[in-house]
Amino acid sequence: MAFDRARFTRACGLSELEEDTPKRVELDGTPISVVYTEGEVFAINDICSHANVSLSEGEVEDCQIECWLHGSAFDLRTGKPSGLPATRPVPVYPVKIEGDDVLVSLFQES
Ligand code: FES
Repeated sequence: MAFDRARFTRACGLSELEEDTPKRVELDGTPISVVYTEGEVFAINDICSHANVSLSEGEVEDCQIECWLHGSAFDLRTGKPSGLPATRPVPVYPVKIEGDDVLVSLFQES
């Protein structure tokens, strides 16, 4: 299904993002970590799938965001953990850039 502009919500400004520095935002009450890395912008749910910890407080490297508490790293493209202790993926969301607007859709493709 083609993306519909109405399904995307502005998360932040592109110019507000610093490379490899996650920015936490809330969209409709859902915490999201927006990450600019390797020339792309990604949006991943901000809560680690292992415990209630904010991923945006972790470090970004190799297109992964690392949970600061126990060290599982999640792929920003797929949400999948690279290793234990987390075993479940974290939701990731489609991103569109329009001018300086970073738009995120909480609807996931199926
Ligand atoms: S809380 Fe994130 S890996 Fe344990």
